[in-house]
Amino acid sequence: MTRTVIFSEACQLPAIGQGTWYMGEDATQRRAEVTALQHGLELGLRVIDTAEMYADGGAEEVVGEALRGRRDRAWLVSKVYPWNAGATDAVEACERSLRRLKTDYLDLYLLHWRGNIPLEETLHAMTQLKQAGKIRRWGVSNFDTADMEELLTEEGGTGCATNQVLYHLASRGIEYDLLPACQQRNMPVMAYSPLAQAGRLRRDLMAHPVLVEIARQKSITVPQLLLAWVIRQEGVMAIPKAGSIQHVEENAAALGVVLESGDLTLINQAFPPPQKKLPLDVI
Ligand SMILES: NC(=O)c1ccc[n+]([C@@H]2O[C@H](COP(=O)([O-])OP(=O)(O)OC[C@H]3O[C@@H](n4cnc5c(N)ncnc54)[C@H](OP(=O)(O)O)[C@@H]3O)[C@@H](O)[C@H]2O)c1
Repeated sequence: MTRTVIFSEACQLPAIGQGTWYMGEDATQRRAEVTALQHGLELGLRVIDTAEMYADGGAEEVVGEALRGRRDRAWLVSKVYPWNAGATDAVEACERSLRRLKTDYLDLYLLHWRGNIPLEETLHAMTQLKQAGKIRRWGVSNFDTADMEELLTEEGGTGCATNQVLYHLASRGIEYDLLPACQQRNMPVMAYSPLAQAGRLRRDLMAHPVLVEIARQKSITVPQLLLAWVIRQEGVMAIPKAGSIQHVEENAAALGVVLESGDLTLINQAFPPPQKKLPLDVI
């Protein structure tokens, strides 16, 4: 069984997509990155997440190359810098992204994080881009609960399609309030750094004895366990970045991994869920 996430307008997508941070930085890796993204698409990892920030537009160019002749198979997400998110600037930033991506529309455009530009201005730009057919939907990233509440009071704010936030087994803060609030609104959450950047964000993760043992019993890898754990809940999508065929194949196979309640109990003992409000983790 493949887990899916339902976005607005009855759009159902596989619960694992593909990240692109750090792609486009090293020319010697370009062919491998393009091939990995294309292989992921073939395996059904339709969502490709990028941003104008990544490699200063270089990641968008890699994605553009990967999507040549197969744009319709992907569900493409990019992000605008907060300082480019003004009423006119955001439209221009989106057009630059579209040029690098060699496409005429994004499936989703996100405000990368909250900056100093009033939300009202960004909403205005998002509405204009949508009306012009340049984006299908818009959303936000790195918004904590209070930011979300404020956004939803803005005119048009309820049109927000998602909140993309840091979420992995060693960073569970969103489970206390942000995730339930989004679930209540049927708003999907996109979990970034779901592998804690291959353990770089939490050194003890990949070799944790509880995770190693559960993975061994299920004949999967610890990264697959981490992905299956992130997408175990309704409305949560993971967007791991993978630069090799082997990693893409492992990540795609994680869509079919089912965790039993006994596994979840052991995982909760090793990595307890939050008992109080914690500030949103960001990187
Ligand atoms: N909105 C935001 O502010 C924000 C912030 C951070 C990230 N993001 C998005 O979320 C995506 C994912 O987050 P991330 O790139 O920070 O970290 P991540 O996906 O948690 O980890 C990426 C690392 O995991 C490795 N990896 C991938 N699959 C693996 C597997 N099956 N086994 C072992 N290692 C594996 C990758 O290595 P290889 O490259 O060698 O395959 C890479 O080193 C980003 O690429 C970006 O699109 C968004």
